[in-house]
Amino acid sequence: MKISSASPSISKNEIKLVNDAISKGWGSKMDYYIKLFSKKFSEFIGVKYCLPVAHCTDAIHLALLSLNIKKGDEVIVPDLSWVASAAPIKYVGAKPIFVDVDPNSLCIDPKKISKFISKKTKAIIAVDLFGNVALNDEIKKICRKNKIYFIEDAAESVGARYKGKMAGSFGDISLFSFNATKLIMSGQGGCLCTNNKKIYEKAKLFSHHGIDKKLTGKYYWSSLLGYNYNWTNIQAACAIAQLDRIKELINYKKNIYRTYKKHFLKIKNVEITKKLINQNQTFWIVYAIIKKKINKEKFCNEFKKYNIDMRPMFYQISTMPAFKNKKMSNYNKISKNISNNAVCLPNGYNLNEKKIKKISLVFDKILNGKKK
Ligand SMILES: Cc1ncc(COP(=O)(O)O)c(C=O)c1O
Repeated sequence: MKISSASPSISKNEIKLVNDAISKGWGSKMDYYIKLFSKKFSEFIGVKYCLPVAHCTDAIHLALLSLNIKKGDEVIVPDLSWVASAAPIKYVGAKPIFVDVDPNSLCIDPKKISKFISKKTKAIIAVDLFGNVALNDEIKKICRKNKIYFIEDAAESVGARYKGKMAGSFGDISLFSFNATKLIMSGQGGCLCTNNKKIYEKAKLFSHHGIDKKLTGKYYWSSLLGYNYNWTNIQAACAIAQLDRIKELINYKKNIYRTYKKHFLKIKNVEITKKLINQNQTFWIVYAIIKKKINKEKFCNEFKKYNIDMRPMFYQISTMPAFKNKKMSNYNKISKNISNNAVCLPNGYNLNEKKIKKISLVFDKILNGKKK
């Protein structure tokens, strides 16, 4: 049996709610589960407003649009993240400024931010990566001091806490993803959270072609150039069932981490995700940083022989064609080193001790030439 890199956890309740949405959730009930999810999720995070959308990438785009960030503006973003954290900066014509990450959390390093703030800087997008949380209190202070917005990309860290506060409750706007690999998922999906009513309403207007019947009294009238970023009731039904099980799902991830930790302690030249001070991490993905020079693509390919889908660490965004900036990528040494020498261990909800043991033995064999 193949060990996949990710796999969701589907209980009878997801099937029950999705069945209900697909058989009865039409007409006047078309957004019943979407509204319910929005209420439940904003309560869970502790924010006033939650706008569910089709993808977290859309939510990041909406965040920038609602803050009127445009050509000529700059937005600070970590150099090590999934490309979706930075792509929407380009969608609105602004310039991403890539800042290096902290080697312990792999999240943007607040000590390295101030140097890059200029008159053009309008916002910082901090990413809570892999179930870790960025030092969001320090980032918030930097934003307040410089009168810029704090956007928190918490796509990967739903349910994680820093100093007792939920990931996604620090930013002026925060974003979450519910794509199929995420801690809670709905196939595809995401949301934008905020305590600011004006931001919420503006984002909502942009999310559906600028149509707001309440505002204009007209059904199909578009008041601004918008997008179709609507989520579906069927996806929301699935996400509600997942949210209702979030404690169980986080515990599963924590158990995966403990099991990896036990087995990886015996392997030389590698260090997995660290426990961080003041944090309650979710360990959405456990990563392994290799203390030898490797070629991460080749390294991951080796696992195919053993039916294991090993995934590489994210690439430095500043090295990719749409963002290419050699000066920034050479300057961000930690991002460069981690990106070149780390991998994401399989993290699905179908892992058990036996599979984790197999992954660990194969890892040791490929890295250190040990017998399987
Ligand atoms: C850090 C980060 N930001 C943004 C996204 C975008 O999420 P989505 O796939 O829902 O658009 C992801 C998801 O993969 C992510 O990991």
